[in-house]
Amino acid sequence: MESVNIIVGSQMGSAEYVAEQLNDKLNDQGVVSILHDQPVFSEINHTDTTWLVCTSTYGAGDYPENLIRFIDELSQCNNLPSLKYTVIGLGDTSYDTYNLAGRKVDDLLASKGATRIDERLELNILDEALPEDTALVWLDSWIEKSGLLG
Ligand SMILES: Cc1cc2nc3c(=O)[nH]c(=O)nc-3n(C[C@H](O)[C@H](O)[C@H](O)COP(=O)(O)O)c2cc1C
Repeated sequence: MESVNIIVGSQMGSAEYVAEQLNDKLNDQGVVSILHDQPVFSEINHTDTTWLVCTSTYGAGDYPENLIRFIDELSQCNNLPSLKYTVIGLGDTSYDTYNLAGRKVDDLLASKGATRIDERLELNILDEALPEDTALVWLDSWIEKSGLLG
């Protein structure tokens, strides 16, 4: 079975907590999932795998600090034709740059020829008391769309 690699961009821990919850649920359901909370591009499989990129946004639409180097390396890599992915973004609609980091990494992966297997999930922390709960409900339909369980 193909594995899932969850790539975390988080500065204050909210996106990381969402990612941890998703990772636990995937593994509970029999999907092999690996969490990368300090992602290093060269250490993460990108062939015949599915990435879930779970990131917040900072500054004027910037990536969280722990994701910046990863994104630089991703920007410079060759195409990723056998990679499937979905992005989960955490943001705050009071910023003009709402969820821009999630949107940018979604566009970047598409530009590398990776296949988006579901629309980006955007979580607005002004509406979400517990963003992980919304993400966990969303994960059920995502697993079906991913085909990971056959
Ligand atoms: C200094 C600062 C800048 C932020 N900038 C943005 C932004 O440009 N766009 C956005 O959607 N959210 C922005 N946010 C909101 C965060 O993305 C949001 O609080 C998120 O839940 C933080 O997740 P984290 O704890 O995983 O880092 C900002 C928050 C802070 C504290």
